[in-house]
Amino acid sequence: MPTAVPAVFPPASEMEVLFSADQIAARVAALGQQITTEYGGLKSGLPIVLIGVLKGAAIFLADLARAISIDNTFDFVSVSSYGRARVSSGAVKLIKDIDNPIEGRHVILVEDILDTGLTLSYLRGLMLQHKPASLKIATCLDKPSRRLVPIEADYVGFQIPNEFVIGYGMDFAEIYRNVPDIRIFPNNPTH
Ligand code: IMP
Ligand code: MG
Repeated sequence: MPTAVPAVFPPASEMEVLFSADQIAARVAALGQQITTEYGGLKSGLPIVLIGVLKGAAIFLADLARAISIDNTFDFVSVSSYGRARVSSGAVKLIKDIDNPIEGRHVILVEDILDTGLTLSYLRGLMLQHKPASLKIATCLDKPSRRLVPIEADYVGFQIPNEFVIGYGMDFAEIYRNVPDIRIFPNNPTH
């Protein structure tokens, strides 16, 4: 009998749930309230700009935008990385830039996971060149043990250990982004 070969893309239903959709919703609601409180007094007159990092942050951004009860608008950037996670220089390139100027605006970069930090430190540097009134970072997940460059988020959904996760926008090989909860992908494919 041949040995059973593990499925490359096991069904998400077989993976351990790290955070359920309900837990995520509660945490995102709390982050939205915190942002509402902190930006509510600013009276800049213009909506906050949420800048999502495609594609992983799309679902978190969609929920966060609606959990913030002061005016906000959004834009997206897309990056690609060369041999990421093993390089300590900012080996990231911009594939899609923001559509609208952010000079003088209060900006929050929205990411799915802060992992090595290469992506967000590159994007933060890039966005600061546009001279926003302020720039903060919101990330759904934070894996502090994986950091290669010093960067912290201002708003963190959950800190997680060194596990590879999927769902709530996050993928493995473009699969599982639509899974409503965050689950642990077996056998940590990248690290
Ligand atoms: P970094 O902080 O530059 O290493 O890159 C973070 C990006 O790597 C995230 O935006 C994700 O796209 C991807 N990533 C890191 N860890 C995971 C994971 O556990 N699951 C899915 N994507 C991940
Ligand atoms: Mg991402």
